[in-house]
Amino acid sequence: MREINMGVSIGGVEFQNPILVASGTYGYGSEAKDYCDISGLGGIVTKSVSWKPRPGNYPRRIVETASGMLNSIGLANVGVHAFVDEKLPYLENFNTKIIANIAASSTEEYCNVLRHIEENASKNLVGYEINVSCPNVKDGGLSFGTNVARVEELTKALRPLTKKLLIIKLTPNVTSVAPFAAACEASGADAISLINTVLGMSVDIHTRMPRISTVTGGLSGPAIKPIALAKVYEARKACTIPIIGIGGITSASDVMEFLIVGASLVQIGTANFINPNIGNQIFSELRNLLIDKGIVNIQDVVATLKVADQMKALGW
Ligand SMILES: Cc1cc2nc3c(=O)[nH]c(=O)nc-3n(C[C@H](O)[C@H](O)[C@H](O)COP(=O)(O)O)c2cc1C
Repeated sequence: MREINMGVSIGGVEFQNPILVASGTYGYGSEAKDYCDISGLGGIVTKSVSWKPRPGNYPRRIVETASGMLNSIGLANVGVHAFVDEKLPYLENFNTKIIANIAASSTEEYCNVLRHIEENASKNLVGYEINVSCPNVKDGGLSFGTNVARVEELTKALRPLTKKLLIIKLTPNVTSVAPFAAACEASGADAISLINTVLGMSVDIHTRMPRISTVTGGLSGPAIKPIALAKVYEARKACTIPIIGIGGITSASDVMEFLIVGASLVQIGTANFINPNIGNQIFSELRNLLIDKGIVNIQDVVATLKVADQMKALGW
């Protein structure tokens, strides 16, 4: 059988394959260890961590919707000190790359959290994903992610603090992601990841109450995949740094779609709740798909979308 190269390198970091698990859907590894071969994954993006522990939003925080789910967890997390002392050391047990996702309500807090992790970093930690895109908190989150100048200012403030990967996680809840992608590249980010959840709502017609406590929440799962693909495609045309595609992935052909529109790596989120080992299954499926198609290097698939010449001439 021919050797298939599934490895991906971004910003000098070698990932053994392009399949990562998304922040908030895989805890800190220990939650999934009995159900999943963690070392088979390309990487784990840990739950967003803030300076202080956060209890998150009042329940109900999750509801199933057509082809997806709405969540309003509100960035519940253990805080950066417990993250560094308890969670990161545990992740050293696995042969996979770790990316720490950071959420905060001010530039100063983002910087302090990153600095604290950096000073105590474990050997598997290869970078940071900066969450400027959570729709479920009042402070921080979208107030950064929907403002190009704030994203730019934040990226510039974080860049000098680390030589590890700096990845900015973008929201789909904007008219156009292109200026955000361009601003991240111009201010020194190594990569961008997108999309975070799409603002949504669900109502119980009998009680006339919203189905989650915060009224609106973040929609994820297969329902958002077409939105995510369109945003990744738009971002691909606006910047040259690598893109990590996220949104509704449940199969190898979903991964191929993201690679074709321009993502170098992908993250799997909601699908982990149905099957915590789905990342490894998709990896095997993807490998077989490449063999079937006679592709020996996964990176040859990236940004290979074929657009009809007439449409290209019109700028599509
Ligand atoms: C329950 C839940 C919690 C999440 N928590 C976070 C989080 O803490 N930080 C973050 O950046 N994204 C968070 N996300 C967003 C996911 O990482 C991902 O961007 C989004 O769900 C889209 O991917 P999917 O459709 O594969 O789930 C969360 C998503 C879900 C469903």
